[in-house]
Amino acid sequence: MSEIGVIHTEHINKYYIMGDVEVRALNDISLDIYKGELTAIMGPSGSGKSTLMNILGCLDRPTGGLYKLGGELVSEMNDSQLADVRNRKIGFVFQSFNLLPRSTALENVLLPTLYSKNKANAKQRAINALEMVGLGARINHKPKEMSGGQQQRVAIARALINDPEIIMADEPTGNLDSKSGKEIMELLIRLNKEQGKTIILVTHDPKIGKQVPRVISVFDGMLGSEEEQKELKRWTDANFSKLHGLEGEKAALADEQPDQNKGENQAVIMEEEEEVE
Ligand SMILES: Nc1ncnc2c1ncn2[C@@H]1O[C@H](COP(=O)(O)OP(=O)(O)O)[C@@H](O)[C@H]1O
Ligand SMILES: [Mg+2]
Repeated sequence: MSEIGVIHTEHINKYYIMGDVEVRALNDISLDIYKGELTAIMGPSGSGKSTLMNILGCLDRPTGGLYKLGGELVSEMNDSQLADVRNRKIGFVFQSFNLLPRSTALENVLLPTLYSKNKANAKQRAINALEMVGLGARINHKPKEMSGGQQQRVAIARALINDPEIIMADEPTGNLDSKSGKEIMELLIRLNKEQGKTIILVTHDPKIGKQVPRVISVFDGMLGSEEEQKELKRWTDANFSKLHGLEGEKAALADEQPDQNKGENQAVIMEEEEEVE
């Protein structure tokens, strides 16, 4: 791992002014996410997950602090520079799919190529992306002719069309039943493993947190303490090993309960899990 992540932030803040009130959505976020990592940003509703994702995804700028994406200082960029970086480097997946309802799967997947400089073989690339997500036989279907899980797979194909280094997904399984949600998670894990995509997903679902190698917890616009992050990572690692049938030392941790030295913030996640189940 290089010292500076493909995503590197230093002391990022985000404030919103609502009338006379200042809403501090993010406070002093410093983090690195490395190339090829699969990371979940987790935390309760309103904790700042989407705000953080929007900044990391170059959809919004921090009020203060520094953000470098692939070595480029994006926190100092203007709107059009930001849009350019976004189109080159990031594919987005949203909770509500955000497909054009009257367009076919193929047309939806082609959409980002309209804004990209790379238009070569666009149609073939779109077909390849749809085949990769298992929808090669559905390219002419419109969203309403597909299930939620299939629509989200179209959205993932759309995120892949410009071959971005990074995929960002905000609650990608939030609108899906548990079976479709599981399939979408399997697809994202496969893209990470087989294509080395750096994937960052936002979720408030602890079941998803357990499936990924790294969890970044956000509470009240702040990162959980380093100790809490380590502890979270330790038990999510163990579950990851178990889920993917990996043998060895890590798997031995799988049966350990995460309640020893449990930080306050982690307790919040565990409580939320009980509500979900
Ligand atoms: N555009 C906005 N204007 C004002 N406040 C906002 C805006 N977006 C988010 N917030 C506030 O910032 C905080 C974090 O919101 P958000 O990032 O959406 O949380 P999450 O995605 O974790 O549910 C919340 O208090 C929310 O009300
Ligand atoms: Mg959100």
